[in-house]
Amino acid sequence: MTMIEASNEDPALAFSRVKLAYGGQGNDALILDHVSFDVMPGQITTVVGPSGCGKTTLLRLAAGLIRASGGHVLQHGRVIDGLNTKVGFVTQESNLFPWLTTLGNVEFPLAIRGVPKKERRERAMSWLQMVGLDGFENHYPSQLSGGMQKRAAIVRTLVYEPEVVLFDEPFGALDAQTRMSLHHQLLQLWHNRRNTMFFITHDLVEAITLSDQVVVMTRRPARIKEIVKVPLKRPRNVFEIFLEPGFDETYAALWKHFKGEIKQN
Ligand SMILES: Nc1ncnc2c1ncn2[C@@H]1O[C@H](COP(=O)(O)OP(=O)(O)OP(=O)(O)O)[C@@H](O)[C@H]1O
Ligand SMILES: [Mg+2]
Repeated sequence: MTMIEASNEDPALAFSRVKLAYGGQGNDALILDHVSFDVMPGQITTVVGPSGCGKTTLLRLAAGLIRASGGHVLQHGRVIDGLNTKVGFVTQESNLFPWLTTLGNVEFPLAIRGVPKKERRERAMSWLQMVGLDGFENHYPSQLSGGMQKRAAIVRTLVYEPEVVLFDEPFGALDAQTRMSLHHQLLQLWHNRRNTMFFITHDLVEAITLSDQVVVMTRRPARIKEIVKVPLKRPRNVFEIFLEPGFDETYAALWKHFKGEIKQN
């Protein structure tokens, strides 16, 4: 990592004039075009944008899985120029190891970091309790519901306390009620730990429910269309988020920017 600058006021992640072209420099291959925004420490920042515009690509850049063709992605002032072990990545699929129990899955990242057995068991169990999965620690992933698998996947990432947690549409495949419960639990986890979270979604209500700010991307080649601050007070009642003061105005502001980016034919 190359040091550029660092202080406590620095963004946790900074995208600075980022260009990205997969496998080519021509305009046809351009995915991201001068994308700049910050993910501030201790906040939840969400990106919304049309399908295929480059949202997952942003997370892959932050994780150091790919490199920008132009500009920089920085974590606390350092350019991310290799695999970034300071982020945790919750992918769209739960990707739990089917041959390990729930407990084994949550202990796994601690085991590869050399945490002693007793401590990793205690830490894993305490995280499983926080999301109501105690009692299911000896179940295998195939014996869990979709929502339970998702909770296990989230705590498997949070258990090793990464500086920044990346979420790629983790709740997309779940029914509306399960989703609401998971929003509630995720916000409770956030209130306890104040992790920096960088969250991708298609869903504007999910974006408002969770975030401090929502970054709206354009169609490909993606630019930042607008950054909308979410004024809703915390803690938020996710079960009646529509009734929270400021919800309607925030939704209207987001929709105004988002609607022009989706195909309406
Ligand atoms: N490895 C790759 N090589 C070439 N093109 C790619 C590669 N990965 C993604 N792309 C292209 O880059 C664009 C952005 O992909 P990305 O997965 O970031 O979109 P997205 O916004 O996450 O989409 P979705 O909302 O559907 O998940 C897409 O047009 C995709 O076809
Ligand atoms: Mg994606």
